[in-house]
Amino acid sequence: MNVLLLGASGRIGQRTATELLDRGHTVTGVSRSGTVDGIDDNEFVAVVGDATDPDHVAMLAAGHDAVVSTLGPSDDESAGRLTEMVEAVIEGLRRADVDRLVWTGGAGGLMVGPETMLVETDDFPEEWDAIARAAIDAYDRLSEASGLAWSYVAPAALIEPGERTGEYRTAERELVTDEEGDSYISMEDFAVALVDELEEENAVHTYLGTGY
Ligand SMILES: NC(=O)c1ccc[n+]([C@@H]2O[C@H](COP(=O)([O-])OP(=O)(O)OC[C@H]3O[C@@H](n4cnc5c(N)ncnc54)[C@H](OP(=O)(O)O)[C@@H]3O)[C@@H](O)[C@H]2O)c1
Repeated sequence: MNVLLLGASGRIGQRTATELLDRGHTVTGVSRSGTVDGIDDNEFVAVVGDATDPDHVAMLAAGHDAVVSTLGPSDDESAGRLTEMVEAVIEGLRRADVDRLVWTGGAGGLMVGPETMLVETDDFPEEWDAIARAAIDAYDRLSEASGLAWSYVAPAALIEPGERTGEYRTAERELVTDEEGDSYISMEDFAVALVDELEEENAVHTYLGTGY
């Protein structure tokens, strides 16, 4: 596939670019800086783009088979920038007539009990509250988008650089935990999950949790 990867320079984005390229896809990697470290591949091009600008997103997306987002606001930006991004991406894809989007979401909106989301639990770190709620807002925006085959793929509660095992589990709208009750996935395996969803389309119009 010819894939537009929004947020390619980020921690999850770089690993997703590598996973896509290793599987033979062609990747246009977008970030505001326009540089992506550590990738040297003839099927990859890094470009400058602003994911809060629907015209820019439309121009970048044109001619691609699908868009994968690993976008996130910088540390110095408000969590609300994520809402600007999802709105611009939905509108930009509509204008470019691209109808497939795999979006990196957040674990905060995943259910940990019959009526409780992870973000609502007492132990949820205060400093992650705003970005977790912005990520839930992004899910709500996608849910309302018509004519778009979106998949919202969320990491486990904890995601860090690690190993690519190729193994992970998924659950629809639920936090994935291991036998000890820990919710974890490496960034490498999360990238595998994103690309699996892109290729297999098992979770279109779904909020998918991932983890071990
Ligand atoms: N447990 C969880 O739920 C969990 C944990 C970690 C991450 N996440 C989510 O996963 C996503 C990615 O996380 P990450 O750690 O990989 O983030 P990151 O390292 O900060 O990467 C964010 C990427 O977005 C790009 N970006 C930001 N604003 C942009 C704009 N206006 N236009 C174009 N590109 C823009 C950045 O590049 P430039 O700055 O160069 O533009 C960078 O490539 C985030 O949405 C984050 O909230 C969820």
